[in-house]
Amino acid sequence: MTKKIAVLPGDGIGPEITEQCVRVLQSLRPSGLALEFETAAVGGAGFDQAKDPLPQATVDLCESADAILFGAVGGPQYDNLPRPMRPEQGLLRLRKHFDLFANLRPATVFPELAHASTLKPEFVAGLDLLILRELTSDIYFGQPRGIHQNPQGLREGFDTMRYNEAEISRIAHVGFQTAMKRQRRLCSVDKANVLETTQLWREVMIEIARDYPDVELSHMYVDNAAMQLVRRPKQFDVIVTGNMFGDILSDEASMLTGSIGMLPSASLNDKKFGLYEPIHGSAPDIAGRGLANPLAIILSAAMMLRYSLDLAGFADQLEAAVRKVLAQSYRTADIEEPGCKLVGTSSMADAVINALREGS
Ligand code: IPM
Ligand code: MG
Repeated sequence: MTKKIAVLPGDGIGPEITEQCVRVLQSLRPSGLALEFETAAVGGAGFDQAKDPLPQATVDLCESADAILFGAVGGPQYDNLPRPMRPEQGLLRLRKHFDLFANLRPATVFPELAHASTLKPEFVAGLDLLILRELTSDIYFGQPRGIHQNPQGLREGFDTMRYNEAEISRIAHVGFQTAMKRQRRLCSVDKANVLETTQLWREVMIEIARDYPDVELSHMYVDNAAMQLVRRPKQFDVIVTGNMFGDILSDEASMLTGSIGMLPSASLNDKKFGLYEPIHGSAPDIAGRGLANPLAIILSAAMMLRYSLDLAGFADQLEAAVRKVLAQSYRTADIEEPGCKLVGTSSMADAVINALREGS
């Protein structure tokens, strides 16, 4: 049965990488991958088209689709818009609308790229870490929030960090289940020594752990976790944490791999419907020049095949093809190295298509 993919290219390099990713997926049609693609505007492109970073037509398309393939949003021309019109709101509203609470951000180091890290290769070679970030609650969405004048007449900004136990327990379950399929080690990151919200977080994690006796649960304060990630990153298997801490730690973890241009992500709800996006941003500085690395969105598409479409075989093929082009020394500018075959966005996609054709 044909599956429908809502393609939201967004801004900056988003359109060029999504275009190439769709081409790669289409090249699998003769092997039996039946996907149809429909595109809609989001982020700055949504604002340009409909004065809304998440136009209703885009929501409607996503509602009718089996999964969302997302490029990137944001750009300097939108930086001074009022907050509700900002490109990022398109993404935040999509997460909330579809209740995409479970954000999987793997940080894996391909052997060919171990030297691209700013850490010594022996600390990152073989790194295979997964950050599971809660994505629909916490200080990102907590009320009240605002900027007002306080009784002393001073302007005061405030946001509210909050989690209820149902929100914590559902992400905990995903964390334990994910760990069960890996090395069975789950590290929950909080700030329970200072923040009530995360004290509850820790209590609920411990309660849910009783259902998963085979998983080793540990706890770490977020400041220590930030330090341990650069000190000895390979100590981690799965990290589960809240929205705010996960935002920060996942950027840190991505840099361990040396190539943020390589990392995919998935944001899932409890029905396994998901939004799939590379974790690099819209990179306005190189947009439109055909230089961007399409491998992160291609690996995101592999996650889409695996998690939302139940097509793990095709996901394996895509991932193997990416490994093969790296082994063949194809590199985009972000991962360039002496003696490599330097290619742009579409040639990298061509290389992946060839690798798929040859069977990797
Ligand atoms: C991310 C991004 C977003 C976030 C922005 C673009 C709203 O930084 O996906 O990590 O803060 O969640
Ligand atoms: Mg972020």
